[in-house]
Amino acid sequence: MADKPATTTQTGTPVASDAHSLTVGADGVTALHDRYLVEKLASFNRERVPERNPHAKGGGAFGEFEVTEDVSQYTRAAVFQPGAKAETLLRFSSVAGEQGSPDTWRDVRGFSLRFYTSEGNLDIVGNNTPTFFLRDAIKFPDFIHSQKRLGDSGLRNADMQWDFWTLSPESAHQVTYVMGDRGLSQSWRHLNGYGSHTYQWVNAEGERFWVKYHFLSQQGVERMSAGEAERIAGEDSDYYRRDLFDAIDRGDFPKWDVYVQVMPYEEAKTYRFNPFDLTKTWSKKDYPRIKVGTFTLNRNPENFFAQIEQAAFSPGNQVPGTGISPDKMLMARVFSYADAQRYRIGANFNQLPVNQPHAAEVSNYMHEGQMQYHFNGPAHRVYTPNSYGAAGGPEADPARGVEASWESDGDLVRSAATLRPEDDDFGQPGTLYREVFDDEQRERFVQTLVGQYNALTVPAIQERFFWYWGQVDEQLGQQLRALAGAPVGEPEPVGVGD
Ligand code: HEM
Repeated sequence: MADKPATTTQTGTPVASDAHSLTVGADGVTALHDRYLVEKLASFNRERVPERNPHAKGGGAFGEFEVTEDVSQYTRAAVFQPGAKAETLLRFSSVAGEQGSPDTWRDVRGFSLRFYTSEGNLDIVGNNTPTFFLRDAIKFPDFIHSQKRLGDSGLRNADMQWDFWTLSPESAHQVTYVMGDRGLSQSWRHLNGYGSHTYQWVNAEGERFWVKYHFLSQQGVERMSAGEAERIAGEDSDYYRRDLFDAIDRGDFPKWDVYVQVMPYEEAKTYRFNPFDLTKTWSKKDYPRIKVGTFTLNRNPENFFAQIEQAAFSPGNQVPGTGISPDKMLMARVFSYADAQRYRIGANFNQLPVNQPHAAEVSNYMHEGQMQYHFNGPAHRVYTPNSYGAAGGPEADPARGVEASWESDGDLVRSAATLRPEDDDFGQPGTLYREVFDDEQRERFVQTLVGQYNALTVPAIQERFFWYWGQVDEQLGQQLRALAGAPVGEPEPVGVGD
């Protein structure tokens, strides 16, 4: 015993026992002034913070990024200059399930990548798909509600998922991805990540480009069969989390290559698809992938709660030379993440070791609030502008704080974006189904959809299910109807293009 350090209270005082509370005699009442007992129980009662609302179940690891190519003609960001290196953090997740949910439920997988750069943290908070279900943030809470649980029974429900999706035709591209092989990955190591949205890069001359990030797994993209996923969901609900941790633990470090598609600024104005519509991809023929570098995950968290649960990623975390675009989803996400984190973790969440910049300094005039940890020195003024020179504190500098920008004008309206020649909700998912999926992928996809149909109970939703897939591909709609043994019904018209 003597060579072990003494257990202490939270304020460092040695305690007498971790086995016996303070009582009046061995059999008597417990003393409320047993300060250590009270402190221990109170700490326990406060261990949980609210889980992330979407993407609650996940896991992650730290790593290293290295630029192997020269993309300096497109961005001035220090982290993307030739030969640059940066520490990274990557968190994988599923979208709908709660903290304890099985990793292998069919879902999109989150892919949140942080670069701790010399110009502050850069977060690309993406998924394993290049698109999303929606193109306007105002629908996001309804979408997530439909993925979660019913108000009365607290059960997940196929009717409400398909009700929402089929009433929101812009979801068809992403639903095609999620009902295909990408909805069931072999592991987190075996999936690609995508920034999904269009972002902006700015080079040293101030020239602007639109970019999409692609993170391609060197392990390959591997699927899991539906039967295997179902079995594993029962046997090991933490299957993906375990796989990643064990792989890194045994030195089998997963790697991803970082690519971007680059669209010259002006071309966005006339591209055949709206390049800021998150339900669409850019053709790789029009904008081929350009390699940037590679990152490796090589360090497991030492503490899951402190380093993964409290990690606070945000698409708003951009650096000079990178930025967002006029994508209506992305602009709202910039607000939403930090707001969620102020509630979920606390006002000063960015001061936590995992969230503070690791390769840059924080210097500004924000201070105080719950759990303040960092503070400015006594000479540092609490306001700006001030007359005290460098000692008085920092000064904002537009030359260093380069921001993304674009032209914007018009009346305030609530309206869908103006359609481009090839903008429609079903064109790209139809191409994905017919031209990108191979025969086996199509077969699995159809089987998955039949399984989904069988869980539906509401006739109007069942009918709209056939309408939706018939719009993606007419034969697919007929095939599903035949396989499901459903009579031909009256298609219900649904507005397209919102
Ligand atoms: C307007 C639409 C969206 C809103 C309002 C929204 C909101 C949120 C919120 C509030 C969280 C929890 C953050 C936290 O508590 O730390 C979250 C997590 C997440 N979201 Fe979104 N989201 C949206 C769209 C998207 C899209 C389009 C993607 C992918 C392209 C995405 C990927 C993720 C990921 C990966 C996480 C988990 C972050 C982590 O690993 O900590 N979300 N989202």
